[in-house]
Amino acid sequence: MRNVRTLGLLGTGVIGGGWAARALHFGIDVIAADTKPEMEGWIRAAVENAAPALARLTFAPLPPKGKLSFTTDLHAMAARVDFIQENIPEQLELKQRVLADVSRHCAADVIIASSTSGLMPTDLQREMVAPERFCVAHPFNPVYLLPLVELVGGKLTSAQTIAAARRLFTYIGMHPLTLRHEIPGHLTDRLQEALWREILHMVNDGVASTGELDDSIVYGPGLRWAAMGTNMIYHLAGGESGMRHMLAQFGPCLKWPWTKLEAPELTEQLIDRMVEGTEAQAAGRSIRELERLRDDSLVAIQQVLRQYNIGAGATLRALEERLYADAAQSARPHGVAAALSRIDTHVRPEWVDYNGHMTDFRYMQVFGEAMEALYRRVGIDEAYRLSGRMLYTVDTHLANLAEARVNEPLYATTQVLSVDDKRLKVKHRLYCGPADKLVATGEQTHLHVNTRVGKASPMDEEVRRRLARLCESAAGLAQA
Ligand SMILES: NC(=O)c1ccc[n+]([C@@H]2O[C@H](COP(=O)([O-])OP(=O)(O)OC[C@H]3O[C@@H](n4cnc5c(N)ncnc54)[C@H](O)[C@@H]3O)[C@@H](O)[C@H]2O)c1
Repeated sequence: MRNVRTLGLLGTGVIGGGWAARALHFGIDVIAADTKPEMEGWIRAAVENAAPALARLTFAPLPPKGKLSFTTDLHAMAARVDFIQENIPEQLELKQRVLADVSRHCAADVIIASSTSGLMPTDLQREMVAPERFCVAHPFNPVYLLPLVELVGGKLTSAQTIAAARRLFTYIGMHPLTLRHEIPGHLTDRLQEALWREILHMVNDGVASTGELDDSIVYGPGLRWAAMGTNMIYHLAGGESGMRHMLAQFGPCLKWPWTKLEAPELTEQLIDRMVEGTEAQAAGRSIRELERLRDDSLVAIQQVLRQYNIGAGATLRALEERLYADAAQSARPHGVAAALSRIDTHVRPEWVDYNGHMTDFRYMQVFGEAMEALYRRVGIDEAYRLSGRMLYTVDTHLANLAEARVNEPLYATTQVLSVDDKRLKVKHRLYCGPADKLVATGEQTHLHVNTRVGKASPMDEEVRRRLARLCESAAGLAQA
């Protein structure tokens, strides 16, 4: 299967736009194809709209962004790409026809995946040329921020196709969940629909409004679900004897039953209640405004989960490991000799205090990320950490020199001032705005520690040599 440099998108609506934003962000070129020429403007706007949230997801060094092009010629797209992701409307016959057609215009080793929310891969691949390269890859909206993608093959899909699809999706920061069997609705939509059916019943019966039902999730189970799924949560709810006690206690309710299996009829009255309810919840805010709020929250949640290496946070951590490793790899021939280590970001809204500028404890956060980038350059990675060796910060001298305002571009450089076998001194400089205003400096001393015994210990010889080279090459620089 191919190394994917160019992704082809078939259908560029909500989901096609999300795939484009994610792939471009992680350095993959995208050729987007849609039968409607006006979708070009739409997909470019969708990519632009996703950019601020994506830019805040990680400090890890990213490859140059991919290039986006658009065509209404599906065959031309198919002939030029390494992987095709189909995102056209959820209609079996339409998808079957378009997938079969496209499969005749691309090489047999180009994987074709479908974003279908619930159609079966065996049905979709039926008329295709080389159907073994087809699978379902079902993402979640917004595709550029939610890592889950459900992967499932049909009867004719090869194991190599699933393995290659996993590689691509992992590369662009996703969590591929491979299904054991194809079933209508896959796993997640089956669960989501069960919840939604109950919502529709309760709104229909006049038991609760859409807002009250959303509150019943947002203030409670929704918070837990980001870290642990329903099964683990119920295991904890059973106390010391876990799931066994939980089933004994609540098992009988399953027979009552609390829930209804058939969805209610979608009457005009029910549709009106659902629409009026959600409009009241939106309280005049536009879809774009609400999307921004959702996206900012999704970024913040993933960063918190990353600290605990759990759920989507573990995916983010693994992605960062890969990005740092790739950057170190590509920088090795000349990078270690370059004088300063540098990270780029911008002032995030949550970093700004009531005065409207970046609050100073966030400087320490940026310096922490800058140290992380320096570590990777000199070979201090997860394996080094796991070997029981690390540098600990022992003091910081912070100088606040100017103000940084929300959304201003921000970057930090790190200069090695001195290094011996146990001590490292660095100076971070934080610049912002188009004029590179120096906002703060932070001079730090770090001590190399054997983390198993909690005592200072000599650092790895090669790491020290690399730090010393950075120190020498920066010595002549005139800096504040
Ligand atoms: N919206 C979601 O939350 C969501 C989530 C996961 C998966 N999906 C799945 O993704 C797919 C697309 O959903 P969407 O919400 O992006 O739909 P959408 O209506 O926003 O976009 C569909 C696009 O396909 C284009 N199109 C129609 N016929 C075409 C053809 N023959 N060739 C090329 N383009 C064509 C349309 O012009 C449109 O731009 C569906 O299968 C859906 O089930 C949707």
